[in-house]
Amino acid sequence: MTLNFGRHLMAIPGPSVIPDRVLNAMHQPSPNIYEGALIDLALSLYPDLKTVARTKGEAVIYIANGHGAWEAAITNTLSRGDKVLVLGTGRFAIGWGEWGRKTGIVPTVINFGMSDAADPAKLEQALRADKAHEYKAVLLTQTDTASSVKNDIAALRKAIDAADHPALFMVDCIASLGCERFEMDAWGVDLMVSGCQKGLMTPPGLSFLFANERALEARKTADLATSYWDWMPRLNPEGIYQNFAGTSPTHHLFGLREALDMLVHEEGVEAAWDRQELFAHAIWAAVNAWGEDGGDLRLNVQNPASRSRAVTCILTSNGNGTRIREWCEKTAGLTLGIGIGAAVQGSPEWHNNFRIGHMGHLNVPMVMGILGTIDSALKTLDIPHGSNALNAASQVIAKG
Ligand SMILES: Cc1ncc(COP(=O)(O)O)c(C=O)c1O
Repeated sequence: MTLNFGRHLMAIPGPSVIPDRVLNAMHQPSPNIYEGALIDLALSLYPDLKTVARTKGEAVIYIANGHGAWEAAITNTLSRGDKVLVLGTGRFAIGWGEWGRKTGIVPTVINFGMSDAADPAKLEQALRADKAHEYKAVLLTQTDTASSVKNDIAALRKAIDAADHPALFMVDCIASLGCERFEMDAWGVDLMVSGCQKGLMTPPGLSFLFANERALEARKTADLATSYWDWMPRLNPEGIYQNFAGTSPTHHLFGLREALDMLVHEEGVEAAWDRQELFAHAIWAAVNAWGEDGGDLRLNVQNPASRSRAVTCILTSNGNGTRIREWCEKTAGLTLGIGIGAAVQGSPEWHNNFRIGHMGHLNVPMVMGILGTIDSALKTLDIPHGSNALNAASQVIAKG
């Protein structure tokens, strides 16, 4: 007998589940890239992206994954030898700083570990100590996808203001855009990068950069800009060809148009945040319940305010993370995220962690299906666990 016969469910933290509507929108012949409907479609994406990012600033689309947007952010605003302060809350902000090293910037990391959000007091202290204003930017993630730690962006901005420091505030929302409340303008974020493959439900391949006046001003002195990543021709295009520094990513644009219709014009960004919030609470309730009575599962992030609403990192012992994942994938038809982060891939500690991606196109049967499948894995594999997890999750959903 096989248990794995229906539609396979991906619950990794990106790429996320692609709605059939998005896939179907991409299923069409190549359009004319120089005139006609594609031009209108491409231009219609920018206002909607800004709506999701909550900004009146500029939006740029790159044909690239998130690493490309990282590089665009750095090269458009900074110069060779510039120091940047990186707030490490897992893996990705540190990765961003390191990515910039080859372009010529010099990152300094304040590392808050794998389970805690960045402390605004420590940021303020570091910036006050930088009397010569050598740090030109502060780099961080809203959500770190490895640790599932979420930072308090508004509080960190206040810390920069309290230190009266001019560094650009640059936030990676690659794992959070469309999933977590994010208010670029109201929270004083100067530059934000994101990608299409998580909360925006589109196949990997597009990334986004949002810039306010301060970031645009920084471009005037930045000496790292290169032809492809330079946002100037993209912001002042003679035609759609310049928007993308070459041929448009035609079918990605079709897909993204459909995804933004669903998110911005049908569900609504705030309603999506609420849905993500509820599902995250249901998942946390289940994991906490599995940990009762000597159970072997626990949430990586203890403070609920510092937990991502889009991905949840779960800790176990004795290699049970990998055992659970493998059972779910091979026997049941559910792919969970591997544990990435502090532990070296393949090491004994690494096998203890796994992650549930719960971002984007997600409903109750998907959430309860993920939890029910993990519950079955725990029973099959004889891994100690509390018995009330599914009940706890459905109670959260019932209360709405
Ligand atoms: C928070 C965060 N930043 C950056 C990246 C890198 O994005 P990409 O893999 O699309 O290059 C990821 C990828 O998962 C991410 O989660």
